[in-house]
Amino acid sequence: ALVEKGNHRHFMVKEIYEQPDACQHTLTAYVDPVTGHVSAPGGFDFASVTRLQIIACGTAFYAGLIARYLFERLAGLPCDVEIASEFRYREPAVTPGTLAIAVSQSGETADTLAALRWCQAKGLKTAAIVNAHESTMAREAGMLWPTHAGPEIGVASTKAFTSQVTALTALAVAAAAQRGRIDAEEEKRLVRVLLEAPRLVGESLGVEEMVQALSLEISKARDVLYLGRGAMSALAYEGALKLKEISYIHAEGYAAGELKHGPIALVDEATPIIVIAPTDELFEKTVSNMSEVLARGGRVILITDEAGAAHAPAGVSVIIAPTCDPLIAPLVFAAPIQLLAYHVAVQKGADVDQPRNLAKSVTVE
Ligand code: G6P
Repeated sequence: ALVEKGNHRHFMVKEIYEQPDACQHTLTAYVDPVTGHVSAPGGFDFASVTRLQIIACGTAFYAGLIARYLFERLAGLPCDVEIASEFRYREPAVTPGTLAIAVSQSGETADTLAALRWCQAKGLKTAAIVNAHESTMAREAGMLWPTHAGPEIGVASTKAFTSQVTALTALAVAAAAQRGRIDAEEEKRLVRVLLEAPRLVGESLGVEEMVQALSLEISKARDVLYLGRGAMSALAYEGALKLKEISYIHAEGYAAGELKHGPIALVDEATPIIVIAPTDELFEKTVSNMSEVLARGGRVILITDEAGAAHAPAGVSVIIAPTCDPLIAPLVFAAPIQLLAYHVAVQKGADVDQPRNLAKSVTVE
């Protein structure tokens, strides 16, 4: 079917705005709203595995990195995440009892498919989290765990990413319940939080004006740094990837704690530092990272929530996203970084939907 832009200027921004629906539709496959029960589509018992191996490329890899925080913290399930092109060639040591999970929008990425086949040949159980349900990975994986983002046209992935994070977050809650790490009441609470995600992702789109106001300044930068802690470090990598893909500005994402081990050497007034930090137990540590940057004449843009904004050091520009439970913060904080990359690219007059040298799906090596 022909997909059109409607009254949006680019597919990318249309797809950013489709995220509340994509999140909602994806949740429907994982959460039973009546019983408040969450499970893998088709049923899978996470108590039957001892380890997860997530394999993916590009943006899907960052969804996997977010999932690792959730599976380990919530479900106590060891979780490795690796770029498929490395995994498939390095002869990884596999432990029986590992479930391999390929994450892919297209279900056709050559490296991810090869890694999935490699895992099957080793006798591992496999699942594929894919958006294209008729794809090769969807067919070949032991289990198909769908995302329901609908067709994604923009080369830079947005709604497919948040749908992957939605599915993986729901699966982590399922794993926590099945492995006896949370009781029925906590499962119900987390499911309520999950079901709030589409609304909060919708509210997070409200940052667009704030983001747009900062986009001119950022469009003039040669380099941009993104920082975050915990699951937000993965969003920092994804934010940097989005910016370089569509605006051609050099950008790097770092775990905030690594700032002093290298990237702080880059800090000057011409290098914007974008900090992604909802208020959590690590927020104070991130505040001191920001202070270190400010003390060196750096420019800081903080993406946080209401409470975080109240504690931002003076001189920081603040983008306020909705307050949410940490479980869904990676979903709620995704749209602000996507919109930032989008508006910077538009400022630069770049071809947002068809960035140079990139392909929507890479089916050759
Ligand atoms: C390409 C696209 C990226 C995507 C990656 C993985 O590089 O440009 O946006 O994240 O492939 O694609 P997949 O279909 O496997 O998620």
